[in-house]
Amino acid sequence: MKKVVSAEVAASLVKDGMVIGVSGFSPSGYPKAVPLALAQRVKNTGEKMKLTLYTGASVGAEIDGAWSEVGIISKRMPYQTNSSLRNNINKGLTEYIDMNLSVMPQFINYGFLPKVNIAIVEALGITEEGNIIPTTAVGNTATYVANADKIIIEVNENQPLSLEGIADIYTLENPPFRKPIPITHTGDRIGTTYIPCKLEKIVAVVMTNMPDKTRPLKAMDETSKAISKNLIEFLENEVKERRLPENLLPIQSGVGSVANAVLAGLCESKLKNLTCYTEVIQDSMLDLIRCGKAKMVSSTALCPSPAGMEDFRRDLDSLKDKIILRPQEISNNPEVIRRLGVIAINTALEVDIYGNVNSTHVMGTKMMNGIGGSGDFAENASLTIFTTESIAKKGNISTIVPIVSHVDHTEHNVMVIVTEQGTADLRGKSPKERALAIINNCAHPDYRPQLLEYLEKAQECSGKHTPHVLCDALSWHIRFMETGTMKKKFIKFTFGNDENNDKLIVS
Ligand code: COA
Repeated sequence: MKKVVSAEVAASLVKDGMVIGVSGFSPSGYPKAVPLALAQRVKNTGEKMKLTLYTGASVGAEIDGAWSEVGIISKRMPYQTNSSLRNNINKGLTEYIDMNLSVMPQFINYGFLPKVNIAIVEALGITEEGNIIPTTAVGNTATYVANADKIIIEVNENQPLSLEGIADIYTLENPPFRKPIPITHTGDRIGTTYIPCKLEKIVAVVMTNMPDKTRPLKAMDETSKAISKNLIEFLENEVKERRLPENLLPIQSGVGSVANAVLAGLCESKLKNLTCYTEVIQDSMLDLIRCGKAKMVSSTALCPSPAGMEDFRRDLDSLKDKIILRPQEISNNPEVIRRLGVIAINTALEVDIYGNVNSTHVMGTKMMNGIGGSGDFAENASLTIFTTESIAKKGNISTIVPIVSHVDHTEHNVMVIVTEQGTADLRGKSPKERALAIINNCAHPDYRPQLLEYLEKAQECSGKHTPHVLCDALSWHIRFMETGTMKKKFIKFTFGNDENNDKLIVS
């Protein structure tokens, strides 16, 4: 109790140049009062402040938004989704390191990154020994708590106490002492329900009562329902062909509105007794438990929409024994993903005809969110699926392009592409076979002829293994930037001779 102070007093411990590690993942379970007090102080005093900020993944507007608005984040990793921060990153005001999420904690533990000066952590409570009971996200908190010189804890009375027990904290030794992670089933509990912490490291405790500001989800439209239908048909066929068991293998689902809608369709499918080994729990994953289709969900964070969060709190007692929150080093661990045979379903911004996927960079240069955990899962899953609508920006962009403007997931990992148009199964296909499968099954009919024409031309005048005409391939993106559409502008040429018949006139 002697350590209980106001948010302003706790924030006064933060000094220019520090590395701050915070709890939180896909805006949930992050500290709110102390970051807001710090932003207010900088705004009022104009004090010079540049911080390096480490998180689990995205955190709420109280950190990424408020700190970006006063310009105090000089460096940020490993993932974000906030519009003010995104603007600062794309204006070059914040250096952003977009990382595979399972790698961040080991970068800290291996000493690859500067040490954490202060960890600011949201907690449900603190045990007499100093151990921390996390709230709606586990993320990298255990790593930052172990690595930090000092710890500030926000005890958030807004979080339901019955969340206690949902977390399963297990930490890894560095190589060469690392042992196999003893998870063989989604529901295995292998650690403690609290984050180990030495009492003397806790320098301030702030009592708060503020809800997580989770992101709203777009309404499910006909397009996302069609993507979901195609995906479920594909999975059901895998069961029919005996390539998957009747209850599938553990499912991982990505973030965003499309990912949420895609999973929603599973409630109406024939599939049952499902499990999920994933990193974020959005609304439709909770619905899968409610409708009796999913019997166990393992993740690192709960981040339903604001309405979904209300429902979750109402149903917490009945949902709790079917949910485990693990550190992201475990939820996204390649060893466990490979052992469990996870089915990874993530969302792409664009896909090229050979199966390379861009999930992060709009038009190749502007950061959207980041790779998040999609790389951890896509590289190690038994089945790696990417979904996307076949067009973006009211049809002015084809999300199926000759060459992606940035690569996050390579053709070597991507196995299946699903759009509202259909499904391309790329397994066992050569580059040219993949191109035909993607164009014919997944591209929008408005763009299909253009893509086929590109492929034909590329086959005529380039290497025959992965045919490309690089200037034509990139002209798709350039064309959008210049004219606002990727649709090809046809130019009519007329030829003739001048009056002396010694010059060719082209107009
Ligand atoms: N070119 C340019 N813009 C594009 C585009 C393209 N090819 N495809 C989509 N967009 C735009 C959309 O128009 C939309 O813009 P708006 O916000 O101005 O409306 C925006 O990108 C988001 O697209 P939306 O269709 O609403 O997708 P989403 O909410 O499902 O998010 C991703 C899609 C790819 C941004 C999101 O899934 C993501 O960040 N993924 C990477 C991280 C990840 O996969 N994590 C999961 C690991 S568990």
